[in-house]
Amino acid sequence: MGSSNLSTRARGSLRDGPEQEIAAKRRKKHKTERDKGLFADFASFCGHSFPHCDDFRCLPERGPRQELLRPTRYTLHMALLSTSFCRDIGIEVPLLCGAMYPCSNPELVAAVSEAGGLGIVQPLSLTYVHGHEFRQGLRFIRELTAKPIGLNVIVEDSSKIYLERMRGYVEEALDEGVRFFVTALGKPGWVVEMVHTAGGRVYHNVTEAKWAQKAIAEGVDGLIAVNDRAGGHAGPRAPHELFDELAGFGKPVLCAGGIGDEKSFVEALGLGYAGVQLGTRFITTKECTASEAYKQAIVDASESDIVLTERITGVPVSVIRTPYLERIGTKAGPVARFLLRGRRTRRWMRALYSVRSGMKLKKAHGQGGSMSSRDFLQAGKSVATISEIESVADIVARFRDAAS
Ligand SMILES: Cc1cc2nc3c(=O)[nH]c(=O)nc-3n(C[C@H](O)[C@H](O)[C@H](O)COP(=O)(O)O)c2cc1C
Repeated sequence: MGSSNLSTRARGSLRDGPEQEIAAKRRKKHKTERDKGLFADFASFCGHSFPHCDDFRCLPERGPRQELLRPTRYTLHMALLSTSFCRDIGIEVPLLCGAMYPCSNPELVAAVSEAGGLGIVQPLSLTYVHGHEFRQGLRFIRELTAKPIGLNVIVEDSSKIYLERMRGYVEEALDEGVRFFVTALGKPGWVVEMVHTAGGRVYHNVTEAKWAQKAIAEGVDGLIAVNDRAGGHAGPRAPHELFDELAGFGKPVLCAGGIGDEKSFVEALGLGYAGVQLGTRFITTKECTASEAYKQAIVDASESDIVLTERITGVPVSVIRTPYLERIGTKAGPVARFLLRGRRTRRWMRALYSVRSGMKLKKAHGQGGSMSSRDFLQAGKSVATISEIESVADIVARFRDAAS
């Protein structure tokens, strides 16, 4: 994975000369407010304040990342795109459009794959929100792109009916040639078994090492590190902390959270991540059928507008602060909190939340936007780097160019 990006030849040949001039020019650019996200993290662990240090060789000798970060940041660019993850999955740019309920419309998924990344289908979004029968929906995406796509499987084992339906989706997806799967929650072992039999790959969304350990024991091929900047269910760790925690497992690790522009993309690859998973950035695209009001709210929002609320699923979800949210607060009500604490009642309460929020989010997503002021606007901290609604192809091309 990441370490294979950094061959000895690349390290040796690119330290001096024009690279340093380029580095100096780029340092100038990085002074703007919006660069303080991932870049600030680099500064904090290399021990130098950011604009003054462009050399990771100053890192203290510790942890698996030390090996990955030995070359200068700019020597990394040469090989950033050619990750083993890309080669393994058969894509050009190590970039996933993560599953998003309700925002993963088939046109968006197809556009990301067609542009060289990998679009991930969210099955409930495809069927319940966007009205496709599952297999027909996959075939519709196939009409838009012949390139690889993936499928999201939320492994929620509290309902037998749900689990059976998910098994059916995985079977049909494999039948239709899908070979990449992103699992979340629960025990992904059964997905791994089915997918490996067909020669596919399973990557699991994790927020901490303890979940990674369990997922690896279930046989997953890679990890998606969901950090504290992510849209959807954010984790507790910063991107660099989480990489440190997960790199030692010896699996490819993708970065999910906070990546909205090409600079943060390049920095994540520079950290040693084998690829990235984006959500919020792809909502604000021409191909996403989310309402214009929602897209504009993302464009207008700054990082400080992003808050975590328990009001959608019972566990913290990242959303944009609105007057409605201020009024109702971000905590679950006292009865819900009590039920969420109970061992038996917790599952019921989560299921109830899921059904209720699923219906509400679907309604708000409606084409042409039947959004009301009482809707939740899910988004992560990458809003800080998103300033316009663009086409998927433009975004992916910019990311590719920045890392080439
Ligand atoms: C609106 C929205 C819905 C999401 N729904 C799902 C989902 O259904 N399944 C899933 O595994 N992740 C889901 N995610 C997480 C994304 O796949 C991705 O990991 C995350 O958005 C990355 O963070 P970013 O938004 O900062 O790019 C969702 C994220 C957003 C913003």
